[in-house]
Amino acid sequence: METYTIQEWLFREAAGRYDVDLAESGVLRQTVGDVEIDPAWDLDYTLDHGSDELRDALHTAYDPSVDDDVLVSTGGQEALYLLYRSALSVGDHVVTQSPGWQQAWAVPREIGCDVTAVRVTPRECPGTAMASAVNARTRMVVLTSPHNPLGTRISAQGSAELHRRCQEVGALLVVDEEYMHDYRSSLVHLGPGVLVVSSLSKMHGMPGLRTGWAIGPRDVIAGMRNYKRFTTVCNSVLCERIAARAVLETPRHLARFDSLHGPGLELLEDWVATRAEQLTLVEPQGTPFAWIELASGDADVIAKTALVDHRVLVMPESVFAPPDAGPSRALRVTFARPLPVLRAGLGALTSVLDDVRG
Ligand SMILES: Cc1ncc(COP(=O)(O)O)c(C=O)c1O
Repeated sequence: METYTIQEWLFREAAGRYDVDLAESGVLRQTVGDVEIDPAWDLDYTLDHGSDELRDALHTAYDPSVDDDVLVSTGGQEALYLLYRSALSVGDHVVTQSPGWQQAWAVPREIGCDVTAVRVTPRECPGTAMASAVNARTRMVVLTSPHNPLGTRISAQGSAELHRRCQEVGALLVVDEEYMHDYRSSLVHLGPGVLVVSSLSKMHGMPGLRTGWAIGPRDVIAGMRNYKRFTTVCNSVLCERIAARAVLETPRHLARFDSLHGPGLELLEDWVATRAEQLTLVEPQGTPFAWIELASGDADVIAKTALVDHRVLVMPESVFAPPDAGPSRALRVTFARPLPVLRAGLGALTSVLDDVRG
């Protein structure tokens, strides 16, 4: 299996070497003190597809069609892995995006699929480009919206066009909605043949619960559920109980998200404006992070210098792209942080950018 570049950077190269984290893509994390835990909870297994309590909460939040089913997973990551492993076979064609979430091309390729990773840019709708990469052999199209790392969302017209094309060839449209706010506007409501994935990691700031889910066609979910029996059996009962409440209380968590997102974005925009000849901000559409393009310089060098000399962590473009994707010319910076933390991180980046400019 190829090296997972995002996680190699976060969990090995940078681990323990930073004080300011502008790299993890979720809102500032919550703590155990922010949730209620009952000492009487039974430390049993839960069900393989998730507890009734959590699945009911997700049903209420999304209101999916009767043809759809819900599977709880260990983060969005496990849901996607179970999906690729249970629904894809050697020779299937898969369409996805680059830069993007490496799992979407690496796991299908490992299975023996033929993968087209469509190059996406912040200024073009991915719908048309991805739809034109679909052919009669395409079994699955994997879209991320809101997009990581670009922070942009597919338009209603773009998603309808992509869904129509998938329906023409019988491909499953998978939407990784890891950064979705409003479950009622999830693309699972586009119609049949759509499967969405999300989790509590990013907008709720609870990645340590490792609780995610997939919602999609019953037969596809059934295949994933069976595969899960061979991997983790079921999620943690403790985490599921906390998660069920978090899903029901999503409006409160989103208010917390907004209170960090708004001021952070304003500070980031002001900072980029002072370096307009060097940096271009791609306006984020609701994500806790933003994509910042560099007029010159190597994003890998900038990220490494920020880490080694200033103990500040950001993500360079190269970790989101296959090795042959070309130069690393952008940084992903998470700004949904308390202002003093963000100020410290941007201050360090200012020094690094001054040095690069010479
Ligand atoms: C686009 C995308 N998909 C999936 C994941 C997996 O996250 P988790 O397993 O915590 O839900 C991430 C994490 O950063 C992500 O950015």
